[in-house]
Amino acid sequence: MPIMTWDASLDVGVDAMNHEHQEILDAMNKIYDARAKGIAGSVVDNLVARLGAITTRHFADEEAFMKKVGYPELERHRALHQRLLEQFTAHAQQIKAAGGAPSDDFFNFLKFWLTSHIKGIDVKYGAHAKGRTA
Ligand SMILES: [Fe+2]
Ligand SMILES: [Fe+2]
Repeated sequence: MPIMTWDASLDVGVDAMNHEHQEILDAMNKIYDARAKGIAGSVVDNLVARLGAITTRHFADEEAFMKKVGYPELERHRALHQRLLEQFTAHAQQIKAAGGAPSDDFFNFLKFWLTSHIKGIDVKYGAHAKGRTA
């Protein structure tokens, strides 16, 4: 059972970014499902690393998009991405140290980030892009 699924409340108004957010959710759900099945160890570490890679690529794509549409808050948004990646890396190291066993803290961090960052921060570049082309 997925821990979180994409719905219209996460729509940022940019199809490519919505699609990438869905990929992030899928990658997170795979880790959650693995834990629910009692899977641990390097399988989980690899799934966590995969989520990290997808997220890193998404942030780069998002920053490129913001640059393309002349979004004025790009640098502040980039700094938030940087901080999230640092937090993610710390979690990934803890999971590894625990033998590939993610804690509830990890999933709470992801859920909080995905909802607050997408709904509160990402939506703003979508609104900017829309206003610019309207
Ligand atoms: Fe973002
Ligand atoms: Fe995003």
